[in-house]
Amino acid sequence: MYSLWKRLFNKDASSDLNKRIQDIKKNAVPFHIAIIMDGNGRWAKKRALPRVAGHHEGMKVVRRITRLANKLGIGTLTVYAFSTENWKRPKSEVEFLMKLPEEFLGSFLPELVSENVKVEMIGDKSYLPPHTIRAVETAMEKTKHNTGLILNFALNYGSRSEILGAVKKIIDDKKSGLLNGDITEEDFSSYLMTGNLQDPDLLIRTSGEIRLSNFMLWQLAYSEFWFTDVLWPDFKEEDLLEAVEVYQKRSRRFGGV
Ligand code: FPP
Repeated sequence: MYSLWKRLFNKDASSDLNKRIQDIKKNAVPFHIAIIMDGNGRWAKKRALPRVAGHHEGMKVVRRITRLANKLGIGTLTVYAFSTENWKRPKSEVEFLMKLPEEFLGSFLPELVSENVKVEMIGDKSYLPPHTIRAVETAMEKTKHNTGLILNFALNYGSRSEILGAVKKIIDDKKSGLLNGDITEEDFSSYLMTGNLQDPDLLIRTSGEIRLSNFMLWQLAYSEFWFTDVLWPDFKEEDLLEAVEVYQKRSRRFGGV
């Protein structure tokens, strides 16, 4: 009896979800969604589990949210998986986090390939362990011709160092004559690691923290922000839908009236 009830209930929940997916205005979805996936440690602590259990659960959420983003016709999904400041964490936690791209892509890559998802990465590769880079570069290579959702990993990413790097490169290019004349905002954007991407339309941060933590400081200038108390490992398809629904009700004026 219980299992019958559960089956019926789950069916209701999934048809509710499908209805909400259908009701999303597909011609007005945020083209680029960026997510600061926060709260993994607290999720684990609440369950008396090691912090890394929260990261592992968080990885599974990335999979589900990628599928939904692709279904909704989102253009780019950037996930902040490791910041330049995260090296301050205990060595064992850092090592665990560095193995997650391999685990994630090891099982999910065939689906990404067949579902037309293109994997990209922003961040400083020079400090990442070879096994992490290999996993991401293999995925980038195997999905480079895909034309659907871009799943963009921010790995060892820090916005200030990205901006500084852009400034240094601009100075070099000016000196060598590669860059002439005035520098526009578009020129500057093209020197960032996100040079080939549109700026995010929607920023999501989970776990109740209301700050940017050195994430896409230039690119988020005109993005809509959506914060939720939900911890990242608890983040469900319904939460992404809510964020998109709220976004669709906002009026974006970009400084105009
Ligand atoms: C912040 O939560 C989270 C991170 C620093 C890591 C985020 C990584 C994942 C969600 C997995 C990445 C998945 C792939 C596919 C590479 P926190 O640890 O700071 O949480 P807390 O504030 O509760 O301690």
